[in-house]
Amino acid sequence: MAVSFLSVCSTLGVRNFNVCKYIMRIGILNSGGDCPGLNAVIHGVVGAADKLNWEVVGFIDGFEGMLPPERHMMLDITNTMGIQKLGGTVLGTTNKGNFGAKVGAGNVKEVPHDIIEMARKTFNDLELEGLVIVGGDGTLTTALQLYRMGWPVVGVPKTIDNDLEATARTFGFDSAVTTVVDALDRLQTTALSHKRVLVLEVMGRHAGWIALHGGIAGGANVILLPEIPFDMDVVCEAIESREKNDLRSTLVVVAEGAMPEGGAKMFHRTSGNSSEFRLGGMGEKVANEIAERTGKETRAVTLGHLQRGGSPTAFDRILGTWFGVKAVQLIKDKQFGSMVSYQRAHVDAVPIEDAVSRLRCVDPDGEEVAAARAIGICMGK
Ligand code: F6P
Repeated sequence: MAVSFLSVCSTLGVRNFNVCKYIMRIGILNSGGDCPGLNAVIHGVVGAADKLNWEVVGFIDGFEGMLPPERHMMLDITNTMGIQKLGGTVLGTTNKGNFGAKVGAGNVKEVPHDIIEMARKTFNDLELEGLVIVGGDGTLTTALQLYRMGWPVVGVPKTIDNDLEATARTFGFDSAVTTVVDALDRLQTTALSHKRVLVLEVMGRHAGWIALHGGIAGGANVILLPEIPFDMDVVCEAIESREKNDLRSTLVVVAEGAMPEGGAKMFHRTSGNSSEFRLGGMGEKVANEIAERTGKETRAVTLGHLQRGGSPTAFDRILGTWFGVKAVQLIKDKQFGSMVSYQRAHVDAVPIEDAVSRLRCVDPDGEEVAAARAIGICMGK
């Protein structure tokens, strides 16, 4: 177990924190699937905490790191330097284990109290005064349970699927969509050359955001979402009508959770002892049916975890940083039980005269500049 300056101070009975660099210590963990931008959150939390002279403990492999044998690492601005550029998470993660609070969409189970008490001992032993919990639906459900049991926790939403309620955007989504767009750009050139139908299956169990955004940006001609059960007649008619108009190649994007009207989702296989559903195969099924019904040469590609791996886009680095900084602010303000949230993804109508009357410049006192300053970026003044 790491020995920090704070513990040395408290061991020595030092109560005047002016003689210590650190005046408080918080923890951070991420749980569930990895996601591009997770390291930007960690970087943001550490940077903002350092400015407040707070020490940060990062738990390894999510909540599991809080259980015996406890595993954590002290995070500081030196050992987190540059990590916002990296994919995955430097803390490691798991979507299994003792804290697996989710058993499918909408179904949650409580984490047993004896497990929570073991984690609480770690929390107390490390003298933590706040815990940043980064995760998706299941992880945040556990965060809520902990908060209701009196833990000083704040949440940071995480999922490439962008399907969490109460935030307009999650980091990781932009990176996943960028990968889908890149795949479609590549598939289009081969589809055009051979006058084929190319079907791309993308992630999205319950929500089709990746398919929708990736499909629109990547020039898909057909997009099938979990939210709109599809009719194969309509899909094939669209392809045949393109053919009649001399548009002889078609790109089809299928979310893994899409299903035909009156039909069911397709399960690729079930994983080990995980209670989570593992979807897959709908892209292949749709491709086969298209080939059979239209006679068009059709190929299927499944993008899979390529959508989760790799470096985050600039947007996800910024959003992750911003979320991390805000999480520290929430702890500072003792707004426990809150989750950071992005609230601006909305297209509206305004009078043209409102747009041309002035330029929209960076607000020196705005949130973006504040976030940059909070992680120690010098703004020249
Ligand atoms: O929830 C994010 C997600 O990427 C889903 O879109 C996908 O179905 C799932 O995770 C895959 O999970 P795993 O990595 O456990 O296979």
